Amino acid sequence: MKKVITYGTYDLLHYGHIRLLERAKNLGDYLIVGVTADDFDKSRGKINVRQSLMERVEAVKATGLADEIIIEEYEGQKIDDIKRFEIDIFTIGSDWKGKFDYLKEYCEVIYLDRTEGISSSELRKKKSGLMLGLVGEALFLDKFIKESCYVNGVTVKGIYTPSVDLLSNQQRNLFIVTEDYDYLLKNVDAVFIYAHPKLRERQVRYALERGKHVLCESPVALNENKCRELFELAEAKGCILMEAMKTAYSTAFSRLILLAHGGKIGKIVSVDATCTSLRDMYEEGEAEIWNSLNKWGPTACLPIFQLLGTNYCEKKIISHFNENRKIDVFSKIDFLFREAVATVKVGIGVKSEGELIISGTQGYIYVPAPWWKTDYFEIRYENPAENKRYFYQLDGEGIRYEIVAFMRAIEKGKADFYIDKNVTYAIAKLMEDFENRKDFVQI
Ligand code: CTP
Repeated sequence: MKKVITYGTYDLLHYGHIRLLERAKNLGDYLIVGVTADDFDKSRGKINVRQSLMERVEAVKATGLADEIIIEEYEGQKIDDIKRFEIDIFTIGSDWKGKFDYLKEYCEVIYLDRTEGISSSELRKKKSGLMLGLVGEALFLDKFIKESCYVNGVTVKGIYTPSVDLLSNQQRNLFIVTEDYDYLLKNVDAVFIYAHPKLRERQVRYALERGKHVLCESPVALNENKCRELFELAEAKGCILMEAMKTAYSTAFSRLILLAHGGKIGKIVSVDATCTSLRDMYEEGEAEIWNSLNKWGPTACLPIFQLLGTNYCEKKIISHFNENRKIDVFSKIDFLFREAVATVKVGIGVKSEGELIISGTQGYIYVPAPWWKTDYFEIRYENPAENKRYFYQLDGEGIRYEIVAFMRAIEKGKADFYIDKNVTYAIAKLMEDFENRKDFVQI
């Protein structure tokens, strides 16, 4: 019996897939189809796959062409499969020509002509087609533009900033470059706001009032009530308002939160998060400089609020100011919870080790610097032999996953909250207290 194997994602199954499977089947007597798992796809840069693994498996099954369906989960699995299933022929579309010649050592490799004029990517683009506008001028927006190219169906159409002079070359090259917010809003479906934290609340409100969806960097507002009002306005207008914080959308970070919640280190007693960057003070520095707490506070507070909740009993904000620039170049926050403590250290004028440590009654989780864009962490115990290391692929610092989550939310008409609303409100409250110098000491 001649055994044939082929692999693919098979998202939104189309006739190109079916033609390939038919020809693969005709190469032998028994066809095994490997359907690529979501996580593995993400690591190859295929994000924004629309259907779940189960839906894709069901679609392949429904063609009646596969004698067996397997899941492709890791790099190097093809060799294992070929040996395990005693495969005679490996086949795949001609878009992969040459890429799998290394398998010739194990079986025959046949590239079949790809069907012209159709692909999952095209279908995904047709399904969504979101026109996005940017608000702000920070260099981070360059990264955002680059990352948006990895997401099918989103086009960054233009940028609005109160002073176009501050834009980077990449930003100036967008189709619309304007100092008129209305003009941008008229030409897009949604905006991503990464402007100075003081400006965001007004910009979010303005966009929502005009029926546009908003993805806004955290903090969305520097006042808790105003933040709540914005989310209420979004609901009333039938728009999506999502808080952006790339760390919240990274796989390693969300797994870490799940493991910690699941009791892997016992009861959590302390969370210590440090985020500093010297560069940003100058990079964003052409425009008004951001406070350390505005810049880093939301990210540093994220693991604390997600793990210990937002009902802390007390807090103290201690800030060191640079008098010339009138900003806190370094801030430390001590939180006291009923049965736990937490510390945040943030700085744009002070450098420190950007690590995250979550201490529990049975062990601790250690995330090395820079923990906010991590793909790796360790769970450590008293007995080092029990230590465990966790690694998850992180592409584009999590930004592209954030864009995908935003697009999904718009399509579904409902956000899957990666960041709980209570966390969003607690962040806004913290910013408000800092503005009002409440629970505050200056050094
Ligand atoms: N395929 C094909 N003709 C097409 C599209 C895909 O023969 N028009 C083949 C691919 O070469 C591969 C298999 O179908 O062998 C599964 O491809 P997959 O990557 O899942 O589909 P694409 O439509 O190529 O997806 P994408 O646009 O996301 O790359």
